[in-house]
Amino acid sequence: MAVERTLLIIKPDAVRAGNMGNILAMLEGEGGFKVLALRMEHLNKDSAGKFYAVHKERPFYGELVEFMTSGPCVPMVLERENAILGLRDFIGATDPAEAREGTVRKRYAGSKAENAVHASDSPESAATEIPHFFPEMTARVG
Ligand code: CMP
Repeated sequence: MAVERTLLIIKPDAVRAGNMGNILAMLEGEGGFKVLALRMEHLNKDSAGKFYAVHKERPFYGELVEFMTSGPCVPMVLERENAILGLRDFIGATDPAEAREGTVRKRYAGSKAENAVHASDSPESAATEIPHFFPEMTARVG
C-alpha cells in the first residue's frame, strides 16, 4: 500500500466542545497518522463556500457554509499508508447514527450536519483540498 496525504478538518462543533485534543490524540495514536501541517482558522463565507463548492446544489449547502463559519476550525494535512480511505474508515459515516463504534464521529459528532470532522473522500479531493488550506503543500508524498 502506498503512503498518501489527506486533509482533515476538525469542525467548529468539535472545537467548541473542547474535543480538539481528543481527536488529535486519536488520529496520532490509534490512527497512526502523522500530522504534517495544522492551523486554527475561522473560515469566512468565501473560503467555506469554495471548499464545499461540490455541494453547491444540495439543499443543505447554505446551512453547511453557515456552520463551517460559526467558529474556528482546525484543518490539517495527515500522512500514512493508505491515508485517504484509511482516514474515511477511521472517522466513520457522515451521520453519527450510522457510524461504527470507536470511530471519531461515533464518539464526537452530534448530528449529520454537525459531525465533528471532514476528511477528503478520494485522491482527487485530497489533491484540491490540501492546497485550499495549505497552498505551499501538495498531496504528493516526498
Ligand atoms: P463532510 O464530510 O464535511 O462533507 C459534506 C458535509 O455536508 C458533511 O460532512 C456534513 O457536515 C454536511 N451534510 C451532509 N449531508 C447533510 C444533510 N443531509 N444535512 C445537513 N448537512 C449535511
